[in-house]
Amino acid sequence: MKLEPNKVTEYIMISPPVSFWIFLSLLTPLCDAIAQDFCVADYMAPQSLAGYPCKNPNKVTADDFVYSGLGVEGNTSNPLKFGVSTAFVSDFPALNGLGVSMVRTDLGPGGVISLHSHPRASEIVLVVEGTITSGFISTANDVYIKTQKKGDIIIIPQGLLHFSVNSGKSQALLFASFSSENPGVQVLDRALFGNNWPTQFIAATTSLDPDVIKKLKVVFGGSG
Ligand SMILES: *[C@@H]1O[C@H](CO)[C@@H](O)[C@H](O)[C@H]1NC(C)=O
Repeated sequence: MKLEPNKVTEYIMISPPVSFWIFLSLLTPLCDAIAQDFCVADYMAPQSLAGYPCKNPNKVTADDFVYSGLGVEGNTSNPLKFGVSTAFVSDFPALNGLGVSMVRTDLGPGGVISLHSHPRASEIVLVVEGTITSGFISTANDVYIKTQKKGDIIIIPQGLLHFSVNSGKSQALLFASFSSENPGVQVLDRALFGNNWPTQFIAATTSLDPDVIKKLKVVFGGSG
């Protein structure tokens, strides 16, 4: 329901007690986004669109609100020199319903975070160590690309394709926060070449050469 200031004023002038009750009832829908302090996820019960059900509050302790999974350096011994540790709601149950999450990314020299998007969240990235070059592509198809040094933050608007490369000479360390406890990740080259989408349809819908598609399917584990 939409709050209409003129109507509210009219009610207040007519009958103070009734109007006050109406005023409160109009405000309630705006205020009940979070109906309780917390809802630590109960992973034993199924997840729904609204998230996980709550663990019994009597069994919640301070330990539930601390997660240590981002304290360890990610393994960068891979072709992309990329290691990531997530603190999404599926890792850290206390995030359930709170609309925030984090990741840690380690990038070796020359390391790459592949082109990807988060359909449900904007992302703000802090460069803790090293120098990276990041960019995103807007829906107007403009590319916004810039090099960030230690201490810089970059914002990636919700849903847009983006990437980073370690453009410095040393290891890079990034921490990022998301405006969702479950931001979702869609990696473009895995979406194209890492599943069983038939090559003929990838070729038809991307203008890529079928031979190139088949080679990339070997790299990304796709079939078809
Ligand atoms: C890092 O990943 C590589 C490649 O998967 C693996 O061989 C290596 O054992 C891993 N290192 C550690 C410390 O887990």
